[in-house]
Amino acid sequence: PTAVAETITELRSLLADERAAGRRVALVPTMGALHDGHLALIERAGEIADTVVVSIFVNPLQFGPTEDLDRYPRTLADDLAKADRLGVDFVFAPTANEMYPSGTSETRVTAGAVGSLYEGRSRMGHFDGVLTVVSKLLNIVQPDVVVFGQKDAQQVFLVGRMVRDLNVPVRVEVVSIVRDSDGLALSSRNRFLDARELRAARGLSIALEAAESSADRGIDAVLAAAQSVLMGESLVQLDYLTIVHPDTFLPVDDDHHGKAIVLVAARVGSTRLIDNATIYLG
Ligand code: PAJ
Repeated sequence: PTAVAETITELRSLLADERAAGRRVALVPTMGALHDGHLALIERAGEIADTVVVSIFVNPLQFGPTEDLDRYPRTLADDLAKADRLGVDFVFAPTANEMYPSGTSETRVTAGAVGSLYEGRSRMGHFDGVLTVVSKLLNIVQPDVVVFGQKDAQQVFLVGRMVRDLNVPVRVEVVSIVRDSDGLALSSRNRFLDARELRAARGLSIALEAAESSADRGIDAVLAAAQSVLMGESLVQLDYLTIVHPDTFLPVDDDHHGKAIVLVAARVGSTRLIDNATIYLG
């Protein structure tokens, strides 16, 4: 059965035994409310390591003052049952006080310029909060591998760069986006969508499919195709739609060919959704 550690000391002593036995440890950082997207990460972790640690922590540092920290779903009992069914070895579920005894972390990891673009433009300080908590989790668990989902493409990029920039001794494993049968990318926030909003939210993945099919005709065609889908959804309030370079995460130049990532973020009702797709520009 899954062992639950609420304190850093407890978790460290459990993990010391794993390491002494020569087991490879994988960490899957989450904020809980586990869905099939998280489960895909956990399954991958189980394939590439001997011991799987899932952290469940709604990190206040990455929420802005007007964001949904209080409304963020907290379903620990359900999450533990799912973790147990998947054979997770350890769940680390600390309190905010355990992670931030002084109420915050004065020391931060900063995400740099890309941290203020796209998600970071709408959510100031968000990625500094993410990188700071991910650093703490990596230092607490010291895993061989850490697993992230491509759903949060900018997060994956920034974590990968932090690991390189700061020489963090961990391998970053990335799992593709898990979608429902209608194409909607799974998200803990989907539960806030009513039936009409759910239908409208499909527009994001439909727009990305349109973008993919237009990729060989270049950037302008990609943006036009995606925009025309989104314009048709009156409940979708577009936040940004951008094509970025996979190596720099900066907007691609007009003459860019080959691999690129299309990012989309929109508000559907009061819920903010993000999605992305990798395309090959002709
Ligand atoms: P959270 O939103 O709970 O996501 C945890 C992990 O699950 C992330 O790596 C995310 O990309 C992945 N994930 C979510 N939905 C997915 C989907 N539909 N398909 C594939 N992967 C998916 O991301 C965070 O938490 C936090 O920022 C965290 C990294 C835990 C730091 O607090």
